[in-house]
Amino acid sequence: MTLEELRALRARRGETRILDLFAADPSRAQRFSVRAEGLVFDYSKTDIDVEARAGLLALAGAAGVAERREAMFTGQKINETEGRAVLHTALRDPDGAPVIVDGEDVKPFIRETLARMNAFAEGVRSGAIRAPGGAAFTDVVNIGIGGSDLGPAMAVRALAPYHDGPRCHFVSNIDPAHLTDTLAGLRPETTLVIVASKTFTTLETMENARAARDWMAAGVGQAAAGGHFAAISSAVEKARAFGIAPERVFGFGDYVGGRYSVWGPIGLSLMLAIGPERFGEFLAGGRAMDNHFRTAHGKANMPLMLGLVGIWHNQVSGHATRAVLPYEERLARLPAYLQQLEMESNGKRVTMDGRPLSEHSGPVVWGEPGTNGQHAFFQLIHQGTRVVPCEFMVGCEGHEPELAHQHRLLQANCLAQSEALMRGRSLEEARAMLAGRYEGAELERQAAHRVFPGNRPSTTLVYPRLTPRVLGQIIALYEHRVFVEGVILGINSFDQWGVELGKELALSLAPVMAGEAEPEGRDGSTRMLVEVLRGR
Ligand code: F6P
Repeated sequence: MTLEELRALRARRGETRILDLFAADPSRAQRFSVRAEGLVFDYSKTDIDVEARAGLLALAGAAGVAERREAMFTGQKINETEGRAVLHTALRDPDGAPVIVDGEDVKPFIRETLARMNAFAEGVRSGAIRAPGGAAFTDVVNIGIGGSDLGPAMAVRALAPYHDGPRCHFVSNIDPAHLTDTLAGLRPETTLVIVASKTFTTLETMENARAARDWMAAGVGQAAAGGHFAAISSAVEKARAFGIAPERVFGFGDYVGGRYSVWGPIGLSLMLAIGPERFGEFLAGGRAMDNHFRTAHGKANMPLMLGLVGIWHNQVSGHATRAVLPYEERLARLPAYLQQLEMESNGKRVTMDGRPLSEHSGPVVWGEPGTNGQHAFFQLIHQGTRVVPCEFMVGCEGHEPELAHQHRLLQANCLAQSEALMRGRSLEEARAMLAGRYEGAELERQAAHRVFPGNRPSTTLVYPRLTPRVLGQIIALYEHRVFVEGVILGINSFDQWGVELGKELALSLAPVMAGEAEPEGRDGSTRMLVEVLRGR
């Protein structure tokens, strides 16, 4: 089965009303959903039918998803453009079977680093590790960007009910406003700064780290400043040169990509916030999803089906974007996290062997938590001319038993949206609703505005409660969906060459903006903007 054949299948079938699929099959919801590890993934409110699903599964088979999956888990170098293995899964399975890369088991280093993280986090949380001036650390500032920021920032926010450690803050942007506003409320004497950069060369992170070091030195003195820093980096030497003691540097192998790195040292701020035990539960959730992904067959495999639904909506049906809509305020940063995970991974223009991709690459991913999004962009999702497949998420329970009725209203809103998207409202229904208020031409005009085309696809992921374990499951689920889609497209989901050109040009423009060089040889627009910004 090929994507071409799936498109032909869809075209042959003609427009399929999702509501008709439910009418024809009373058990559709059960048959077009996956239950695994306490999660329910319902994709029955899409126009995927038995034939389409069989075709999608055949597509996954033909693309070699299962073989590639084993290659990933067993440490083969599936990141072929960088010659690297892809083993973020090993980070969440420190005690599992050995995984050999270049003749060496990666697990002992992962275990040793995790033990060091645990000891450090415990020390800071208990007050055994203190600032050189003797005060306990009350605040942690993680300085990093991209994968060295989005994962822990998202997870720390998601797990707020479990915080019993220092307050965590995140600085990523080179815009000095970010660091300034974050440090404004903090006391250097009680602040721990974590410089999180896999490479320890990223411009934004290094500039912010230097500025934070100056702020610290001004507050506690040059000699004590180093005692307020830790680093997460594979470049231990560079961290040491920055002035961070080697025992405060936590590294990870090149087999962990930035956007997949929250499971290891990059998750240190999360561990400081919720403690090593809960961090262990987070890892266990990811591990449970890994085991499920490796062992569940066909339509019972949740990440596989999530990936295939994505392929159906994007490459087969031609919908260019997907909205991620968590009905969970604490998942407010999840859409941004998934934007990096999905768009940096599957936004590629050539296949693994360097030939132009004959399909569209991965979709534009965007979203906001519900119910806020309802009062902002849902108008377009319901009545705009483009179809936006929606991915709803909602928990069975919240963490506020005293306000449980509000949580039930949240759930009601989530279900109402997917129902409304599917059902829509016909012209006749709109007319009937308005009859009595308007008549004649005015009735027709008013009714037209109240029509919803309906038949708009959505999926819903239901989880018991947003615990550390469940968060681990959800993130691993999405990681594997990205993997599935990437294998089907035949691309390398684990490199990110597309971010390089902008970085290079920014470096060459830096002296121009500083007035040390002229924008010669650049295009007219850039030259004009340089002039405006320099205030000429
Ligand atoms: O923007 C590209 C990127 O390499 C991301 O993939 C990565 O997460 C981010 O930069 C940060 O990189 P580092 O951890 O090396 O500072």
